Amino acid sequence: MHQIVEIAKNYYKLQSDEKDFHRNIYIRKFPIKNQGLGILLNRFKRKQSINMIMDPGTKLDLPRLEDSLNELIGGIKNLDLIFVSHQDPDVSSNVLPLLMRAKNSILIGSIDSWRLIKMYGVSKGRFKAAESFVASYFEIPGSDSKIYFLPARYCHFRGAMMVYDPETRVLFTGDFMAGLNTMSKRSIYADEEAWPGIALFHQIYMPSSKAIQRTIELIRMLTPKVEIIAPQHGYIIKGELVDEFLERLYHLKVGMDIEDVDNVYTSRLVLALSNFLGKVKVFNIIAHTKLIKIMKESQSANFTQPIVFMGEEISKINVGYEQAVEYVVSIIRKHFKKEEEEMLLLLNDALVELSLPVPQFMAKTIAEIGKKEFIGEE
Ligand SMILES: [Fe+2]
Ligand SMILES: [Fe+2]
Repeated sequence: MHQIVEIAKNYYKLQSDEKDFHRNIYIRKFPIKNQGLGILLNRFKRKQSINMIMDPGTKLDLPRLEDSLNELIGGIKNLDLIFVSHQDPDVSSNVLPLLMRAKNSILIGSIDSWRLIKMYGVSKGRFKAAESFVASYFEIPGSDSKIYFLPARYCHFRGAMMVYDPETRVLFTGDFMAGLNTMSKRSIYADEEAWPGIALFHQIYMPSSKAIQRTIELIRMLTPKVEIIAPQHGYIIKGELVDEFLERLYHLKVGMDIEDVDNVYTSRLVLALSNFLGKVKVFNIIAHTKLIKIMKESQSANFTQPIVFMGEEISKINVGYEQAVEYVVSIIRKHFKKEEEEMLLLLNDALVELSLPVPQFMAKTIAEIGKKEFIGEE
């Protein structure tokens, strides 16, 4: 069975086992209050709740998903709404088996997603386009609840969709706000350490910063304000980190923007980082060996590394300039407490020697180290 966590009242998260790039599947139960009439309610009659699943995962998830749904809603057959944020296989490959077993269920997604999802052999009568709901909301039959469908245009697919549930204030975001995080911690909630994984995911998968900004603007307009962000990969984001991470993401360069603007810097950074490794080797050969080992191992071979090695040499940088520098700095800070100041100075030198800008987060520390040394010399 998946690990089941109730993230808000009647809102559950199921998580696949993989430590890297695991999938989050969400179930929302809307308890039925009045068994009144209504066209849709006929479809759902004699039910305790209307049950919605969001991004139902892959075939690998199906056996355990079945156990989890038995526990939560009495089985797959009791699913009513199957929502897909887009049509990637990690999201949609269970759509057909679920529709076949939950005979009264309907599939909801964007028209753009449908154009591809119908190729699983789903009949048109089982599909309802998210765009077809008047004012983009759907009143859950027999309850006072409603849900809103929100486009996350080009994040990362043209027709990507999110679902806002104003009652629980949970925004299900699909791949948007997802992270390439290693879920080694016990908590399913993001903390500061989740940010590099979120930034990396967006730099790799999102096509442009403008697409991200438009989606964030839409999220900021929602009332009541979003309290919990529930993405398809990585950690759940809640509390102050919702605004904080949205703001950081708003200013992050991703996709084509990195390729356009950062190309010159990142190719020179390959050389600067190689020079930096050379300097570390002279400074402390043990630290050098340890640093290369950590840089090569810190990401799973399953997905793109921020900095790619060929043997002991850096061959390529896959993320933005600042992101790559930040990645190296975070490794130094985490693993080289004793040598931290010296190594940051060496990195600073390597950047300056090739006329590369020293990012602000680093410049401040360098200035502080410089001040300390100056006072020490007096
Ligand atoms: Fe995707
Ligand atoms: Fe995904």
